[in-house]
Amino acid sequence: MKWDSGLYDNKHGFVAEFGKGLLEFIPRNMSQRILDIGCGTGALTAQLASQCGYVLGIDSSLEMVEKAKEQFPDIDFQVMDALALSYEHEWDVVFSNAVFHWIPDHDRLLNKIQRSLKPSSKLICEFGAQGNIETIERAFIAAFEEIGHTYRSKFNFPSVVAFSALLRKNGFLIDKVTDFDRPTPLKDGEQGLINWARQFFAAELEMLTDEEQDKLLQKMQSTLKDKLWNGQEWVADYRRLRAVAHTDDGVQL
Ligand SMILES: C[S@@+](CC[C@H](N)C(=O)[O-])C[C@H]1O[C@@H](n2cnc3c(N)ncnc32)[C@H](O)[C@@H]1O
Repeated sequence: MKWDSGLYDNKHGFVAEFGKGLLEFIPRNMSQRILDIGCGTGALTAQLASQCGYVLGIDSSLEMVEKAKEQFPDIDFQVMDALALSYEHEWDVVFSNAVFHWIPDHDRLLNKIQRSLKPSSKLICEFGAQGNIETIERAFIAAFEEIGHTYRSKFNFPSVVAFSALLRKNGFLIDKVTDFDRPTPLKDGEQGLINWARQFFAAELEMLTDEEQDKLLQKMQSTLKDKLWNGQEWVADYRRLRAVAHTDDGVQL
């Protein structure tokens, strides 16, 4: 999917803002090396930089990486797909906020991350859990299909049980895996839901004419008014999964 880095920073900065809660799980160790997967425009990578000796932000979107480099020229960023990681035991922490639900194959992803981490090192991540944006997605599907298109969800929102099983399968020892509701107010009053849909359903909207897009977005708004509009702002039905896990110490008994 193509990311609009300007729209992301202007209207959806709350993603990185909420992600700050994850930073408290980063070990206090100023010599550690941290890999930030799906760094986006780099706001959290910049925070991580003050908690380690070296941080690298990677992201599969060239546009996001260019924006990150422009904003934080002293930090290293690279265009890289998380499923193509080829590191062998190089990182003390792999960090990731709001990314894993964009990646269909969590088994392969966790295998790559496991190999990237040194012994006794940590994976710290948060992303959409089962049920995330269910109300919004359902309204979008109905409006999209009414125009004659078939919707295939690109999101991967696992349950705690399913993600924990994959962590174990890939050799991780679990410190915590939890899911929780995070009702999320969207910026820009009445326009908030449409901004959100234009960013996160960009691929589907691109298939439609301008007129069809307007019709779909109006329809979606009217379906969701009773459920997600509180009189002042739209509140998205986010659910998050947070996981902290570590690799074993590598000692053969
Ligand atoms: C919602 S943004 C989160 C950005 C940042 N972590 C933050 O908290 O603001 C999701 C990011 O994941 C990136 N992404 C999606 N799939 C990816 C993949 N397979 N490998 C690397 N990055 C990916 C996208 O390009 C996008 O920048």
